[in-house]
Amino acid sequence: MPSLRELREEAADCRACPLWQTGTQTVFGEGTARARVLLVGEQPGDQEDREGRPFVGPAGRLLDEALERAGIDRSAAYVTNAVKHFKWEARGKRRIHAKPSWSEIAACRPWLESELAVVKPAVLVCLGATAAQSLLGKQFRVTKQRGTWVESDLAPHVTATIHPSAVLRQRTDEDRHREMDALVSDLAIVAAVLARAG
Ligand code: URA
Repeated sequence: MPSLRELREEAADCRACPLWQTGTQTVFGEGTARARVLLVGEQPGDQEDREGRPFVGPAGRLLDEALERAGIDRSAAYVTNAVKHFKWEARGKRRIHAKPSWSEIAACRPWLESELAVVKPAVLVCLGATAAQSLLGKQFRVTKQRGTWVESDLAPHVTATIHPSAVLRQRTDEDRHREMDALVSDLAIVAAVLARAG
């Protein structure tokens, strides 16, 4: 079994889909191999692409706050993405997030499977539809199934919730607060299982 460091080094040269041509670098997962919870997002954003680390931009800060409110220590978690290169479109000087295609998600899945095989988390959390559909199947509907436990061979406990960016996209403070509270309550079931499992 390769180590996370070996996987990260191998993934740095990944050419399994065309996104390596426009992304700055592969953004591999981050965290300890002993993490009991593994969180999967969609793909790195602009800041993550530049820094080479997952969830360090605005969505990452919101995720940190949600994890803290739910009572989950991010430093004890492993955080990664379904797709490990930033897919973007130019809008003026800005690089705007573009949704990864199914073939790009599928091309990247072996990295995610390797991360899961090394970390062997007690709890797997899919953040948003891309991660959920990559790991739980195309028919998975986050809006309907979020915050529930899903039968899966991937980990003893598997669940999905919305992506932190969905909170950031809300137009009013009231909507943002409501979505943030819902994200925190989905994550609270994860905290409860982690506490029970000791
Ligand atoms: N959104 C994601 O899905 N992942 C990141 O790493 C950052 C933003």
